[in-house]
Amino acid sequence: MKTFLSVVGARPNFMKVAPLHRALQSFTDQIRHVICHTGQHYDEKMSTVFFEDLELPRPDIYLGIGSGSHAEQTANVMISFEKVLLELQPDLVIVVGDVNSTLACSVTAAKLHIPVAHVEAGLRSFDRDMPEEINRMVTDVLADYLFVTEQAGMDNLRREGISEDKLFFVGHVMIDSLKYYREKAAKSPILASFDVLPKTFTLVTLHRPSNVDVKENLERILTLFETLQDQTRFIFPVHPRTHARIDEFGLRERFNAIDTLTLCDPVGYLDFLKLMDNAALILTDSGGIQEESTWLRIPCITLRESTERPVTAEIGTNEVVGLNIPLAVEKSRAALNGNGKRGTIPELWDGRAAERIVEILMERLDVNNE
Ligand code: UD1
Ligand code: UDP
Repeated sequence: MKTFLSVVGARPNFMKVAPLHRALQSFTDQIRHVICHTGQHYDEKMSTVFFEDLELPRPDIYLGIGSGSHAEQTANVMISFEKVLLELQPDLVIVVGDVNSTLACSVTAAKLHIPVAHVEAGLRSFDRDMPEEINRMVTDVLADYLFVTEQAGMDNLRREGISEDKLFFVGHVMIDSLKYYREKAAKSPILASFDVLPKTFTLVTLHRPSNVDVKENLERILTLFETLQDQTRFIFPVHPRTHARIDEFGLRERFNAIDTLTLCDPVGYLDFLKLMDNAALILTDSGGIQEESTWLRIPCITLRESTERPVTAEIGTNEVVGLNIPLAVEKSRAALNGNGKRGTIPELWDGRAAERIVEILMERLDVNNE
């Protein structure tokens, strides 16, 4: 019996581990799958709700790390995770994405000579001001198995000298969840609770420090909503970081003065999927939402200077506009008038990435010949 230990920490991790957990359920005689939640995100609406929505079992291990500076958070995960690894002695640690928990657990496992699989490897924004870029680079250099979502990821890893036998282009586990839960999400009552009809509203998410931790930048984005307020209804589930900054910068009243803008708490996975699927337009700085909107073929305007997911802009519905507000207004108006990008779906984003990953891991770790 082999033990695979998957790490989740923050919101974008849960929908990536869920399909891996499901795929591993076919092999419970050979593989014990243990889920460790670092507690990087801990609010009910940033964490617990996803376990229910994604039918994930309660985490076997909860580290309860919580918030902190980058060094504090990363170091605290490392200290606790090392104890877990020493006790459990897993055969493999699986990390997903690019959050601080991803970096912390990869470093800890690699130093104990435990193989690491990185799911969503190879993405690069080429902007080291983003904490995620550092997390991605370090994790990829340490990982033994790198599972890649798009061709650019393969190109980046080859350029960085990662050996070919570690690289696997498998598609995207986040899309596995999207496809698997789309029908169930369609039953969510969220549109009625916001009193909106399909395709009449713009869905907004913002949480990148470069946008929300800098007052002038958050104010620039506010002017985008003010300019478009007569053309669309906005639904904006607010990330806790952003919620705190809106108050700290004294911008709450200006947000509230926009009659067509509804601020609310973050919503669960199924509700959010229903909102995405029925939006006329998505305005975001999220990583994953750029990909989900491409798969759902909903126009997406990304308020960032770069994307580490270039396929979404090259063939998907994504338009990366940075903080060029006039351009964002122009692109938003086009989308709201029905002239947004329609896009096509990237290669291997077919809902079967987790199955491919499990198959490769079984073979590489010699699971069938125990
Ligand atoms: C983190 C990830 C980011 C990811 C995002 C997804 C890193 C470096 N950043 O950013 O890549 O896109 O998650 O949402 O790992 N907070 C709460 N409740 C929570 C969680 C956070 O109130 O459950 C507040 C705290 O004040 C905290 C702040 O949000 O200090 C930021 O949380 P943190 O996990 O450090 O970074 P995120 O901005 O959430
Ligand atoms: N999401 C959600 N509820 C929300 C906002 C986002 O369920 O209120 C989901 C979204 O569908 C996607 C993931 O959270 O699957 C993206 O996480 P986030 O934007 O926090 O992180 P990033 O992808 O930028 O790292």
